[in-house]
Amino acid sequence: MLIGSTLLTAIGLTSSVHAWGGLGHKTLANVALQFLTEDTLTGVEAVLAADGHKKTPHPSIVDIATWADDWAHSKGGAFSKEFHYIDAQDDPPFECNVDLDRDCSGEGGCVVKAIANYTRQLINPSRNINDTADALKFLVHFIGDITQPLHAESKARGGNDIHVTWQGHRGKNLHGVWDTDIITALAGEDDKTNRDQWTETIVDEIKNGNYKDLVPEWLSCTDVNDALNCALRWAIDSNSFICSYVLKTDPAGRELSGTYYRGAAPIVQEQIAKGGVRLAVWLNQLFGSGEAGRLPTPAKRLVVQDRAL
Ligand SMILES: *[C@@H]1O[C@H](CO)[C@@H](O)[C@H](O)[C@H]1NC(C)=O
Ligand SMILES: *[C@@H]1O[C@H](CO)[C@@H](O)[C@H](O)[C@H]1NC(C)=O
Repeated sequence: MLIGSTLLTAIGLTSSVHAWGGLGHKTLANVALQFLTEDTLTGVEAVLAADGHKKTPHPSIVDIATWADDWAHSKGGAFSKEFHYIDAQDDPPFECNVDLDRDCSGEGGCVVKAIANYTRQLINPSRNINDTADALKFLVHFIGDITQPLHAESKARGGNDIHVTWQGHRGKNLHGVWDTDIITALAGEDDKTNRDQWTETIVDEIKNGNYKDLVPEWLSCTDVNDALNCALRWAIDSNSFICSYVLKTDPAGRELSGTYYRGAAPIVQEQIAKGGVRLAVWLNQLFGSGEAGRLPTPAKRLVVQDRAL
């Protein structure tokens, strides 16, 4: 399976499930990691270490950030394919909006309901640690996916059917450009050095720079007990970029690595930053008062805002 998806990536046929690519998802998780409390870190690591399907002895949230993509492409995980996006049937670039009844009524679900679902499963954890670990792994990924604007849009299958050119290469599609090419141009290939460097840039912007004043707005809905509503608001926020930038002037057939890239890159970086702090605050609520190795029961749960925010 891994070989299959790597191959697809290599020939540029990534499916719509692959949001943000590896570097995007892992950096988003790495940003979150910088804002977790000690309690949260202990609880999260304990769940991931007890996961019967783990690949390394002590995985971090960075290590599992793309698990949901591999899982969606495997036989056992096919049920989760549609959990990665919500097909907003709006009318960009003229009108952007997300309507849960209109856009998430199918049997397959959507990213908004999936976030609510797996949040609930961490509030009331299953006796089966594998299920709890899966819920955590899904959540880490989906709180990332939902910040990719084209994961909150139905038009041309979230941009998959919009053919564009990137650095002279034809045969690219808009969705893939937003998932991967913009990030590669901005931060390099998916390796640890680039990930750490980009994380440092983003965390600095959050603590001391351009993002500092935006953080309260990014966190205006971050109550795990109101997960469906918050996830919907996050989708509406992402979807708004479809009209304000992504499809504002028809990108079809254009070379996007120049002017279009220069406008898109700051949006991508801000979305990764936004997803990172939301994930941190979310996990701090779910695990913040937990004892080592145990998920907190709801009664003991404490809303822990990160000390650094
Ligand atoms: C978790 O998954 C592993 C690997 O499939 C399995 O051996 C183990 O029994 C599972 N644990 C539970 C509680 O189902
Ligand atoms: C909730 O999670 C379970 C376990 O993964 C899954 O079977 C179910 O389809 C999910 N429901 C929704 C609405 O996403």
